[in-house]
Amino acid sequence: MTANSPAMWVGIDLAYFIGTVLLVIGLRRMSSPSRARSGIWYAGVGMAIAIIATLTIAGDPGRRVLIPIAMFIGAAFAFIQSRRVSMTDAPALIALYNGLGGGAAAGIAFVELLRAAEHTSSLRVFALVGALAGSIAFAGSFMAWQKLRTGMRRSIPFPNRQVVYLAIMVLMLLVGLVLASSNTSHPVLLFMFVVLALFFGISMTLPIAAADLPVLISLYNALTGLAVGVEGYVLGNPAMMVAGTLVFASGALLTRLMARAVNRRLSEIMYSGFGVNENERKDSRKEGFVNEIEAHDAAASMAFANRVIVVPGYGMAVAQAQHKLRELTQLLDERGVQTAFAIHPVAGRMPGHMNVLLADAGVPYEKIADLSAINEEFSQADVALVIGANDTVNPSAKTDESSPLYGMPVLNVDQAGSVIVLKRGDGRGYADVSNSLLESAGTRVLLGDAKDSLQELISCIKAMD
Ligand code: TAP
Repeated sequence: MTANSPAMWVGIDLAYFIGTVLLVIGLRRMSSPSRARSGIWYAGVGMAIAIIATLTIAGDPGRRVLIPIAMFIGAAFAFIQSRRVSMTDAPALIALYNGLGGGAAAGIAFVELLRAAEHTSSLRVFALVGALAGSIAFAGSFMAWQKLRTGMRRSIPFPNRQVVYLAIMVLMLLVGLVLASSNTSHPVLLFMFVVLALFFGISMTLPIAAADLPVLISLYNALTGLAVGVEGYVLGNPAMMVAGTLVFASGALLTRLMARAVNRRLSEIMYSGFGVNENERKDSRKEGFVNEIEAHDAAASMAFANRVIVVPGYGMAVAQAQHKLRELTQLLDERGVQTAFAIHPVAGRMPGHMNVLLADAGVPYEKIADLSAINEEFSQADVALVIGANDTVNPSAKTDESSPLYGMPVLNVDQAGSVIVLKRGDGRGYADVSNSLLESAGTRVLLGDAKDSLQELISCIKAMD
């Protein structure tokens, strides 16, 4: 098979096809916790095949060297980072990696637009869409990563946001029209277009308060997919087109689901005061709670209950307490107590965070219910056991209009016969707002690291036999 022979191109197309099919199978498998690991392998092998095919047609020998060097640097960086990062910091890292994907797609668009004469005006429009989406995703994800990493919880509003957004969009439209309609390259205008898009991404992220950041991150994920997909079209690369479209579609779907989970509209993300509450509490008071409880009392109230609903949250993930939690619920089950797990859609720090941890600990799937399925059942539960959850069980989200959480559906733990909260001290949740649940008469707090407290509860229950 000689270079550029028809047989070689059939081979390349076949390789892209196989790579794409493996990617689709991989993504499909990732939707189930038990098959996710193999899904990552399928997708990885698929992408490796697509990369080899791309290297084969790279033409210029310099590129065949530069591409592997760039890949090696990126892979080494990612490998070191992901070994260092804890599970709880993974969402921040994912936000960054996602942004880098958008940045890479914007980089491709930049290069293609510098070669304006080689493309038709419609392809230049596609390249501009990729540059826009990729740059916004890059800058926005980078800001989100910084906010998550540094614990910048509150929104950083700036005056007349809507006017600023409109001005940037009008400017981008004008510059974009010149770039799309001209056969010659305009590096300065192109640079201006990208800078405006980067600025748009930053200004969109700054005002978003911590509790609403996950929705924005998944929106950026969708934008990265869009950028990769359209740049795939510009380059005539089917693997990029399919992978980008899949990421775009799944990101858009996830954004919709997450927005629903926190009861926000997508339009609010872009234009209005999404996540911004100018009246946010400015005080720095920590949580106050009235009742503490000892482990043996907490163990007794669960051991003699009919029904206990467990609500895991971010603190359970930090403490890596899922195995102890399964052990505790198994003990309760053996005593005839009905146990169930209630999962809030944004519990923890990434979509499906709690489901993954509970599956990892071997909690049976049928015991796990999401918010909409179980929320009505709290009123029939004797005990709600809250483990390191805070924002997702905060009743003020239902009643306090001045709270940044207002409107977000929360788990109705306050309707249970009694509430036992496992937490270390007076720390607040991610949204950094006070939690009225902790001050209510029916709530008792067992202080300590979740894993240690669960171990104490297990010992107390075992001692009852
Ligand atoms: P949070 O509201 O973040 O509350 C965590 C609680 O865990 C805190 O009250 C903390 O109190 C406690 N805690 C921390 N470490 C602990 C440990 N070792 N042992 C025991 N307790 C510990 O958790 P949540 O209810 O799961 O809510 C999730 C929040 O994260 C939401 O606001 C959500 O919007 C946001 N978010 C979610 C995602 C996704 S997609 N899930 C992504 C980013 C952000 P102490 O410090 O006193 O122990």
